Amino acid sequence: MTTMPEVKIFSKPKKVCKAVAREILKLTQESHQNRFDVALSGGSTPKKLFKILAAEFSEEIPWERLHFWWGDERCVPPDNENSNFKLANDFLFSKIQIPEENLHRVKGENKPEEEVFRYADEIEESLNYRGDAPVFDLVILGLGEDGHTASIFPDQIELFEDENICAASQHPITGQNRITLTGKVLNNASRVFFLVTGANKALRISEIMNDDEAAKLLPAYYISPKNGELIWYLDEEAASRIS
Ligand code: 6PG
Repeated sequence: MTTMPEVKIFSKPKKVCKAVAREILKLTQESHQNRFDVALSGGSTPKKLFKILAAEFSEEIPWERLHFWWGDERCVPPDNENSNFKLANDFLFSKIQIPEENLHRVKGENKPEEEVFRYADEIEESLNYRGDAPVFDLVILGLGEDGHTASIFPDQIELFEDENICAASQHPITGQNRITLTGKVLNNASRVFFLVTGANKALRISEIMNDDEAAKLLPAYYISPKNGELIWYLDEEAASRIS
Protein backbone atom coordinates (compact mmCIF):
# COMPACT_ATOMS: atom_id res chain seq x y z
CA MET A 1 0.00 0.00 0.00
CA THR A 2 1.94 3.01 -1.28
CA THR A 3 -0.44 5.94 -1.79
CA MET A 4 -1.05 7.60 1.59
CA PRO A 5 -4.80 7.40 1.88
CA GLU A 6 -6.84 10.27 3.20
CA VAL A 7 -9.55 9.37 5.69
CA LYS A 8 -12.68 11.52 6.09
CA ILE A 9 -15.05 10.54 8.90
CA PHE A 10 -18.61 11.82 9.26
CA SER A 11 -21.20 11.20 11.97
CA LYS A 12 -23.88 9.56 9.80
CA PRO A 13 -24.09 7.71 6.44
CA LYS A 14 -26.16 10.57 4.98
CA LYS A 15 -23.37 13.06 5.78
CA VAL A 16 -20.80 10.73 4.22
CA CYS A 17 -22.83 10.53 1.00
CA LYS A 18 -23.45 14.28 0.95
CA ALA A 19 -19.70 14.91 1.22
CA VAL A 20 -19.07 12.55 -1.71
CA ALA A 21 -21.82 14.24 -3.75
CA ARG A 22 -20.29 17.65 -3.06
CA GLU A 23 -16.85 16.38 -4.10
CA ILE A 24 -18.30 15.04 -7.38
CA LEU A 25 -19.85 18.45 -8.02
CA LYS A 26 -16.54 20.22 -7.25
CA LEU A 27 -14.50 17.84 -9.42
CA THR A 28 -16.83 18.10 -12.41
CA GLN A 29 -17.07 21.89 -12.15
CA GLU A 30 -13.27 22.27 -11.88
CA SER A 31 -12.47 19.77 -14.62
CA HIS A 32 -11.68 21.31 -18.03
CA GLN A 33 -12.02 17.98 -19.79
CA ASN A 34 -15.00 17.60 -22.11
CA ARG A 35 -15.87 14.37 -20.32
CA PHE A 36 -15.46 12.99 -16.80
CA ASP A 37 -15.56 9.21 -16.47
CA VAL A 38 -16.82 7.75 -13.19
CA ALA A 39 -16.94 4.04 -12.27
CA LEU A 40 -19.65 3.38 -9.69
CA SER A 41 -19.69 0.78 -6.93
CA GLY A 42 -22.56 -1.59 -6.39
CA GLY A 43 -24.10 -3.04 -3.25
CA SER A 44 -26.50 -1.10 -1.02
CA THR A 45 -24.32 1.72 0.37
CA PRO A 46 -24.40 3.93 -2.79
CA LYS A 47 -28.24 4.08 -2.69
CA LYS A 48 -28.08 7.09 -0.33
CA LEU A 49 -25.54 8.81 -2.57
CA PHE A 50 -27.78 8.33 -5.61
CA LYS A 51 -30.78 9.73 -3.73
CA ILE A 52 -28.82 12.82 -2.59
CA LEU A 53 -27.38 13.44 -6.07
CA ALA A 54 -30.88 13.26 -7.58
CA ALA A 55 -32.59 15.34 -4.88
CA GLU A 56 -29.98 18.02 -4.16
CA PHE A 57 -27.51 18.18 -7.07
CA SER A 58 -29.59 17.45 -10.19
CA GLU A 59 -29.42 21.07 -11.44
CA GLU A 60 -25.80 21.89 -10.57
CA ILE A 61 -23.87 18.90 -11.87
CA PRO A 62 -23.01 19.09 -15.62
CA TRP A 63 -24.47 15.62 -16.31
CA GLU A 64 -23.96 15.96 -20.08
CA ARG A 65 -20.19 15.78 -19.46
CA LEU A 66 -20.31 12.83 -17.05
CA HIS A 67 -20.01 9.27 -18.25
CA PHE A 68 -20.94 6.52 -15.81
CA TRP A 69 -19.48 3.02 -15.75
CA TRP A 70 -19.55 0.25 -13.15
CA GLY A 71 -16.58 -1.11 -11.20
CA ASP A 72 -18.46 -4.39 -11.09
CA GLU A 73 -21.80 -5.92 -11.85
CA ARG A 74 -23.78 -8.99 -11.01
CA CYS A 75 -24.46 -11.23 -14.00
CA VAL A 76 -28.18 -10.54 -14.07
CA PRO A 77 -30.44 -8.57 -16.46
CA PRO A 78 -30.74 -4.79 -15.85
CA ASP A 79 -34.28 -5.11 -14.42
CA ASN A 80 -33.23 -7.69 -11.82
CA GLU A 81 -33.29 -6.64 -8.14
CA ASN A 82 -29.62 -7.65 -7.84
CA SER A 83 -28.51 -5.40 -10.71
CA ASN A 84 -26.14 -2.59 -9.70
CA PHE A 85 -27.28 -0.72 -12.82
CA LYS A 86 -30.92 -1.01 -11.69
CA LEU A 87 -30.11 0.53 -8.31
CA ALA A 88 -28.38 3.52 -9.89
CA ASN A 89 -31.06 3.89 -12.53
CA ASP A 90 -33.98 3.68 -10.07
CA PHE A 91 -32.52 6.21 -7.61
CA LEU A 92 -30.48 8.52 -9.86
CA PHE A 93 -30.47 8.24 -13.65
CA SER A 94 -34.27 7.96 -13.99
CA LYS A 95 -34.54 11.22 -12.03
CA ILE A 96 -32.07 13.44 -13.89
CA GLN A 97 -31.38 14.68 -17.44
CA ILE A 98 -28.40 12.65 -18.68
CA PRO A 99 -27.83 11.43 -22.25
CA GLU A 100 -28.48 7.68 -22.42
CA GLU A 101 -25.21 7.21 -24.28
CA ASN A 102 -23.40 8.48 -21.15
CA LEU A 103 -24.46 5.38 -19.24
CA HIS A 104 -22.08 2.49 -19.91
CA ARG A 105 -23.58 -0.44 -18.08
CA VAL A 106 -22.10 -3.92 -17.85
CA LYS A 107 -24.49 -6.15 -19.77
CA GLY A 108 -25.09 -8.57 -16.93
CA GLU A 109 -27.48 -10.56 -19.12
CA ASN A 110 -24.63 -11.60 -21.44
CA LYS A 111 -22.40 -14.64 -20.95
CA PRO A 112 -19.70 -13.52 -18.46
CA GLU A 113 -16.89 -14.97 -20.57
CA GLU A 114 -18.05 -12.81 -23.52
CA GLU A 115 -19.08 -9.71 -21.55
CA VAL A 116 -15.62 -9.28 -20.01
CA PHE A 117 -14.26 -8.61 -23.51
CA ARG A 118 -17.23 -6.60 -24.80
CA TYR A 119 -17.07 -4.25 -21.76
CA ALA A 120 -13.26 -4.03 -22.00
CA ASP A 121 -13.56 -3.02 -25.66
CA GLU A 122 -16.09 -0.30 -24.81
CA ILE A 123 -13.74 1.04 -22.12
CA GLU A 124 -10.73 0.85 -24.45
CA GLU A 125 -12.57 2.79 -27.18
CA SER A 126 -13.79 5.50 -24.80
CA LEU A 127 -11.15 6.23 -22.15
CA ASN A 128 -7.70 7.79 -22.25
CA TYR A 129 -4.76 5.61 -21.32
CA ARG A 130 -1.97 6.15 -18.79
CA GLY A 131 0.70 3.55 -19.29
CA ASP A 132 -0.87 0.25 -20.27
CA ALA A 133 -4.28 0.82 -18.71
CA PRO A 134 -7.36 3.03 -19.18
CA VAL A 135 -7.83 5.94 -16.75
CA PHE A 136 -11.05 6.59 -14.88
CA ASP A 137 -11.30 10.11 -13.49
CA LEU A 138 -13.04 8.70 -10.43
CA VAL A 139 -13.68 5.19 -9.15
CA ILE A 140 -16.10 4.76 -6.26
CA LEU A 141 -15.64 1.53 -4.31
CA GLY A 142 -17.41 -0.21 -1.47
CA LEU A 143 -16.07 -2.71 1.04
CA GLY A 144 -17.59 -6.09 1.83
CA GLU A 145 -17.49 -7.57 5.36
CA ASP A 146 -14.98 -10.11 3.97
CA GLY A 147 -12.75 -7.30 2.71
CA HIS A 148 -13.74 -7.64 -0.93
CA THR A 149 -14.06 -4.58 -3.16
CA ALA A 150 -15.65 -4.25 -6.60
CA SER A 151 -16.12 -7.98 -7.25
CA ILE A 152 -12.60 -8.99 -6.28
CA PHE A 153 -13.09 -11.47 -3.43
CA PRO A 154 -10.49 -12.75 -0.90
CA ASP A 155 -9.81 -15.92 -2.95
CA GLN A 156 -9.27 -13.86 -6.13
CA ILE A 157 -6.50 -11.44 -5.12
CA GLU A 158 -4.61 -12.51 -8.25
CA LEU A 159 -6.99 -10.13 -10.10
CA PHE A 160 -4.60 -7.37 -8.98
CA GLU A 161 -1.95 -8.94 -11.26
CA ASP A 162 -4.35 -9.59 -14.15
CA GLU A 163 -3.31 -7.91 -17.42
CA ASN A 164 -6.91 -7.60 -18.65
CA ILE A 165 -9.27 -4.66 -18.11
CA CYS A 166 -12.17 -6.78 -16.83
CA ALA A 167 -12.46 -10.22 -15.31
CA ALA A 168 -15.21 -12.67 -14.49
CA SER A 169 -15.43 -13.55 -10.81
CA GLN A 170 -17.78 -15.38 -8.50
CA HIS A 171 -19.23 -14.55 -5.11
CA PRO A 172 -17.54 -17.10 -2.80
CA ILE A 173 -20.73 -17.84 -0.83
CA THR A 174 -23.62 -17.38 -3.28
CA GLY A 175 -21.67 -18.50 -6.34
CA GLN A 176 -23.21 -15.53 -8.18
CA ASN A 177 -21.29 -14.69 -11.35
CA ARG A 178 -19.83 -11.20 -11.46
CA ILE A 179 -17.93 -8.97 -13.86
CA THR A 180 -15.31 -6.72 -12.27
CA LEU A 181 -12.67 -4.21 -13.27
CA THR A 182 -9.27 -5.65 -12.47
CA GLY A 183 -6.83 -4.23 -9.92
CA LYS A 184 -4.66 -2.79 -12.71
CA VAL A 185 -7.52 -0.54 -13.88
CA LEU A 186 -8.77 0.34 -10.40
CA ASN A 187 -5.23 1.39 -9.39
CA ASN A 188 -4.76 3.41 -12.55
CA ALA A 189 -7.58 5.79 -11.66
CA SER A 190 -6.93 9.48 -10.99
CA ARG A 191 -9.02 9.20 -7.80
CA VAL A 192 -10.47 6.36 -5.80
CA PHE A 193 -13.13 7.05 -3.19
CA PHE A 194 -14.08 4.28 -0.79
CA LEU A 195 -17.62 4.87 0.43
CA VAL A 196 -18.07 2.70 3.51
CA THR A 197 -20.59 2.92 6.35
CA GLY A 198 -21.73 0.75 9.24
CA ALA A 199 -20.30 -1.05 12.25
CA ASN A 200 -20.17 -4.31 10.29
CA LYS A 201 -17.27 -2.88 8.27
CA ALA A 202 -15.25 -1.60 11.27
CA LEU A 203 -13.06 -4.71 11.67
CA ARG A 204 -11.86 -4.68 8.05
CA ILE A 205 -11.36 -0.92 8.09
CA SER A 206 -9.21 -1.19 11.23
CA GLU A 207 -7.15 -4.08 9.79
CA ILE A 208 -6.45 -2.05 6.63
CA MET A 209 -5.84 1.30 8.35
CA ASN A 210 -3.65 -0.31 11.05
CA ASP A 211 -1.73 -2.18 8.36
CA ASP A 212 -2.39 -5.44 10.23
CA GLU A 213 -0.97 -8.69 8.88
CA ALA A 214 -4.59 -9.84 8.43
CA ALA A 215 -5.15 -6.99 5.97
CA LYS A 216 -2.93 -8.73 3.43
CA LEU A 217 -5.77 -11.23 2.86
CA LEU A 218 -8.19 -8.46 1.98
CA PRO A 219 -8.59 -7.33 -1.65
CA ALA A 220 -9.42 -3.75 -0.54
CA TYR A 221 -5.93 -3.54 1.00
CA TYR A 222 -4.42 -3.63 -2.50
CA ILE A 223 -6.29 -0.57 -3.71
CA SER A 224 -3.51 1.96 -4.07
CA PRO A 225 -3.74 4.30 -7.07
CA LYS A 226 -0.30 4.56 -8.69
CA ASN A 227 -0.78 8.15 -9.84
CA GLY A 228 -3.90 9.13 -8.01
CA GLU A 229 -5.67 10.04 -4.83
CA LEU A 230 -7.18 7.55 -2.40
CA ILE A 231 -9.83 8.84 -0.01
CA TRP A 232 -11.81 6.78 2.50
CA TYR A 233 -15.23 8.30 3.18
CA LEU A 234 -16.43 6.68 6.40
CA ASP A 235 -19.11 7.12 8.99
CA GLU A 236 -18.21 6.98 12.67
CA GLU A 237 -19.41 3.38 13.03
CA ALA A 238 -17.20 2.12 10.20
CA ALA A 239 -14.26 4.09 11.66
CA SER A 240 -14.96 3.01 15.23
CA ARG A 241 -12.02 0.59 15.48
CA ILE A 242 -9.30 2.66 13.81
CA SER A 243 -6.60 3.12 16.46
C1 6PG B 1 -21.27 -5.33 -5.31
C2 6PG B 1 -20.23 -4.34 -4.97
C3 6PG B 1 -19.45 -4.70 -3.75
C4 6PG B 1 -20.01 -3.81 -2.65
C5 6PG B 1 -19.69 -4.37 -1.28
C6 6PG B 1 -20.36 -3.56 -0.18
O1 6PG B 1 -21.68 -5.39 -6.46
O2 6PG B 1 -21.72 -6.01 -4.39
O3 6PG B 1 -19.72 -3.56 -5.85
O4 6PG B 1 -18.10 -4.55 -3.87
O5 6PG B 1 -19.49 -2.51 -2.78
O6 6PG B 1 -20.17 -5.69 -1.25
O7 6PG B 1 -21.72 -3.76 -0.31
P1 6PG B 1 -22.76 -3.00 0.65
O8 6PG B 1 -22.68 -1.56 0.29
O9 6PG B 1 -24.07 -3.59 0.31
O10 6PG B 1 -22.32 -3.25 2.07
